[in-house]
Amino acid sequence: MLIKGVHIENRPETSDIRITDGKFEEIAPDLVPRPGEEVIDCTGKLALPPFIESHVHLDTCLTAGEPVWNQSGTLFEGIQCWSLRKETLTKQDVKDRVHRAVRMQARNGIQFVRTHVDVTDPKLTAMEALLELREELRDTIDIQVVAFPQEGIDSFPNGRQLMETAVKMGADAVGAIPHFEFTREYAVDSVNFCVELAEKYDKLVDVHCDEIDDEQSRGLEVLAARAYESGLKDRVTASHTTAMHSYNNAYVTKLMRLLKLSEINFVSNPLVNTHLQGRMDTYPKRRGITRVKELLAEGINVSFGHDDIFDPWYPLGTGNMRDVVFMGLHVCQMMGCQEIMDSYKLVSTNAARTLHLGDSYGIKAGNPASFIVLDADNFYNALNQKSEVLYSFKNGRMIAKAVPAAREVLF
Ligand code: FE2
Repeated sequence: MLIKGVHIENRPETSDIRITDGKFEEIAPDLVPRPGEEVIDCTGKLALPPFIESHVHLDTCLTAGEPVWNQSGTLFEGIQCWSLRKETLTKQDVKDRVHRAVRMQARNGIQFVRTHVDVTDPKLTAMEALLELREELRDTIDIQVVAFPQEGIDSFPNGRQLMETAVKMGADAVGAIPHFEFTREYAVDSVNFCVELAEKYDKLVDVHCDEIDDEQSRGLEVLAARAYESGLKDRVTASHTTAMHSYNNAYVTKLMRLLKLSEINFVSNPLVNTHLQGRMDTYPKRRGITRVKELLAEGINVSFGHDDIFDPWYPLGTGNMRDVVFMGLHVCQMMGCQEIMDSYKLVSTNAARTLHLGDSYGIKAGNPASFIVLDADNFYNALNQKSEVLYSFKNGRMIAKAVPAAREVLF
């Protein structure tokens, strides 16, 4: 198959892409079709590596209002709503919703997903469902599963056993939620436990870390120190870290040295944290987004996640990473021309580092032919014009396509 005329990753010149046996065989200008070769004309369109959802909760998606709506809009009321919904959870219910969500994501050019799955459920229903789905959907979407203790590890009955069971069942990564634990001691112990579990079973780590506006929430320094000392380093991810928004600058300056030494990844969730944070403030209200711009300037890896899709924590969302980037650039004040142009990396190449996808991710000869084509010539215009994902190819197979709506202005 030959894809004609794409701008690969914003390059001004166009290239053709030849796909053979599911791999990128050749990438060069003006490739001549072979006899009988299928040709797709994408002249002037943008080709990118596939979008990656580096932080989402697929087990809770599409449950907003069930059985009650989160009226206050706070994270903590969200956890209460979810614990009610959790009582009626069945494996089929999880699978049906995740199937719908994954198709929404595929339509939006996502091919890789890291989902956190709540393991503070004695039956581990959602974990079982997600692990089955990970295998069932392997050909269309790569799913990484994080054992995520929504109601705490040391603050939830049998929390440690549930975590270890989930890891033994096959979770890819170990989570924690230090800011939700009963005490600071529990918070530190839970992070230590999480890192030790990851070491024991050779897993990645992704912690819901300091997702609170409390400037005293210091789970991040504990996580970064353990990542550094254990040698796990870039196998560790700190998600959310919204308290960092409220830390004093003297502390952040000191902390930054440790963060760089630790080589950990960050995931920020601009849609959801703009909605959830600052809820206890009067005015001025904090944005509660971690310091993305400053972390990137220090050479630290940051990606963006959607976090929630129409669930107790976030009542909107269609699983579209372009929406995430759009919001993130605003709230992080990253609106320089080059920042906007490069911002697709926050939901592609940076996220690939977080997920440890390795060298096989990316548009280059020899790699699996996984990429997307957007209806614009570069990402700046794609973002601004809300351009459709025209094609999504995974391992050389088209898994989604779109025909842009025709619109006319009649004056
Ligand atoms: Fe989250």
